Amino acid sequence: MQLELPLELGKFKMGDAQLSDREEIYRGVNPMFAGKTVLVTGGTGSFGKKFAEIVLREHEPKSLRIFSRGELLQLQMREQFQGDGRLRFFIGDVRDKERLSRAMNGVDIVVHAAALKQVPACEYNPLEAVRTNIDGAANVIDAAIDNEVEKVLAISTDKAVWPVNLYGATKLVAEKLFVQGNAYTGGRKTRFSVVRYGNVVGSRGSVIPLFYEQRKAGRITVTDDRMTRFWLTLEQGVYFVINCLEQMKGGEIFVPKIPSMRITDLAEAIAPGATQEVIGIRAGEKLHECLLTGEEARHTREFDTYFVVEPEHPFWKKDAGSTVKSLPEGFEYSSNSNDLWLSAEDLLALIGSPDLRQVD
Ligand SMILES: NC(=O)c1ccc[n+]([C@@H]2O[C@H](COP(=O)([O-])OP(=O)(O)OC[C@H]3O[C@@H](n4cnc5c(N)ncnc54)[C@H](OP(=O)(O)O)[C@@H]3O)[C@@H](O)[C@H]2O)c1
Repeated sequence: MQLELPLELGKFKMGDAQLSDREEIYRGVNPMFAGKTVLVTGGTGSFGKKFAEIVLREHEPKSLRIFSRGELLQLQMREQFQGDGRLRFFIGDVRDKERLSRAMNGVDIVVHAAALKQVPACEYNPLEAVRTNIDGAANVIDAAIDNEVEKVLAISTDKAVWPVNLYGATKLVAEKLFVQGNAYTGGRKTRFSVVRYGNVVGSRGSVIPLFYEQRKAGRITVTDDRMTRFWLTLEQGVYFVINCLEQMKGGEIFVPKIPSMRITDLAEAIAPGATQEVIGIRAGEKLHECLLTGEEARHTREFDTYFVVEPEHPFWKKDAGSTVKSLPEGFEYSSNSNDLWLSAEDLLALIGSPDLRQVD
């Protein structure tokens, strides 16, 4: 099997002039979507809206179904995309398998983005996190198999790696369910894979809008001045997902190579000269995040701009003739030992767009 991502992902690199140039990242209609019906769980969230914008603008799906609970967010999204007859809105909860199954009738591709993702909220309401992030993932898998959906891609997070909070733990379980979901398909064509990435600039609940707010008072709070994080933009997340959808065979965890940034540099970039007050690491927070463990590295292939964690299951047929690199023993991909670093200028280029400065 040849796992080659298209050249477009070569432009995925940040830290140079191309990073904010959308046109450089991806060009042309992706035939994968042509005439297809696509469903996005959590379609009214930060990812879902950007995914809808890009897929509807650049590709030619027959229809794009938005699946989420809140009618108000759906109403706002309907207004935002006014007049696009390809969009369909389904009110539903991923905890409700019957509803999911109905919504997936006739669907070819599913992107599973719905989640409870705020660390403190998941800690405080643990069963709710389990029901949405774990039971919801299981329901998506069942409904997709029953409806013979072709491809299902779930979005995961670096917090699922060596999790120290319940959010990460539930996403780890969801990852496992998706990888192993391929063994449940019987003779059906449904395939499941995962994309795992780091913090998204400009997503709901990001620290960036908070820093912009605090800047007004000239005082930024950082929990620990040693902290580092992986960063990517919503657009990069969406383009990566589109490319992985195209490439996936089922069972892979795709991890993009993305830059790190020190939290203190982030604060300084947003509020130059402001006082930085260290308030102490919060419960469930790590100093550094990890996107790939040493254990996973043993069954991971490296490409120019991304990694693929291959499943360790009998259903996975390795490509013996492949020329892609395996990783050296002990390799780990962590935000503090990254080769790629985001400078203040890079970050400002990314958040130059006013819509990234507020919680949407
Ligand atoms: N943002 C990041 O920095 C980041 C980083 C790595 C990975 N991720 C992952 O990326 C995915 C998308 O994140 P995001 O930033 O777009 O999140 P978001 O903006 O909070 O959106 C979440 C979406 O899920 C829906 N939702 C929540 N609970 C649901 C349920 N039980 N049933 C159906 N829909 C439900 C929400 O709408 P309703 O509330 O109206 O249902 C909303 O549409 C998540 O899986 C997250 O774990 C995010």
